[in-house]
Amino acid sequence: MKRRSSGIPGLDGMLGGGFPNPSTILLGGAPGTGKTTLAVQSLFHGAKNGENGLYITAISEPAWLVQNFLSSFEFYDREPIEKEIINFIDLGQTMMKRPDMILETIMKTIEKYNPDRVVIDPITPIRDLLQWRGEMREFMHQLFAYLKGLNTVSIITAELSYDDISSSLEGYMADGLIILSYPEVNGVRRKLLEILKMRGTDHTTGRQLLEISKNGVAVQPGLR
Ligand SMILES: Nc1ncnc2c1ncn2[C@@H]1O[C@H](COP(=O)(O)OP(=O)(O)OP(=O)(O)O)[C@@H](O)[C@H]1O
Ligand SMILES: [Mg+2]
Repeated sequence: MKRRSSGIPGLDGMLGGGFPNPSTILLGGAPGTGKTTLAVQSLFHGAKNGENGLYITAISEPAWLVQNFLSSFEFYDREPIEKEIINFIDLGQTMMKRPDMILETIMKTIEKYNPDRVVIDPITPIRDLLQWRGEMREFMHQLFAYLKGLNTVSIITAELSYDDISSSLEGYMADGLIILSYPEVNGVRRKLLEILKMRGTDHTTGRQLLEISKNGVAVQPGLR
């Protein structure tokens, strides 16, 4: 099986060598647990090997804000952005004005940039809007079917709790399910990462300690 290194210290070992390629990975967790950092760090890692990365967001804050926030991390590098190896695309306007066009726009954007790694961060506002329109299930089925047909690692982030994620449609459809959490244990809050599923590979189970520092995120397998 082909793999793409995650670029997250400690995670490739847990995954048996990296993200299976192709694969669709749902990265779930509450706000502030590190989803964006992990996903974007993986794009920058891929760019070092010449892999194209595409970051798609639909939150109303423009993509430059995300870049601005991310620029404090050591893995952040302007060069792959200037060379358009990594592209940040904001589909917030499409989502607000033409929610019926969101799937088509995502697919056209992916076709345009032909990425090796795709991040959709977060899927939650699109999901909620389409759920309200009664189009969420159809959208998810089509999006996942489309992504599975590509030669990419697709990371889709979602604000889903442990309880939501295992019963969610996208959790069921994704090849891989990674959840980040921030529980209080004995009066201390710890960031944790757990691989709930990864089709086609053996992987470490159980919650592992996740560190966030200026170097980005890192997993410390075995430490809890
Ligand atoms: N330099 C740093 N050192 C340590 N921790 C940091 C640093 N920069 C950010 N963090 C931590 O990372 C968190 C933000 O992570 P990130 O934005 O990736 O989370 P997220 O899951 O995408 O959140 P959201 O759901 O709000 O988008 C901050 O809340 C903070 O705890
Ligand atoms: Mg985020």
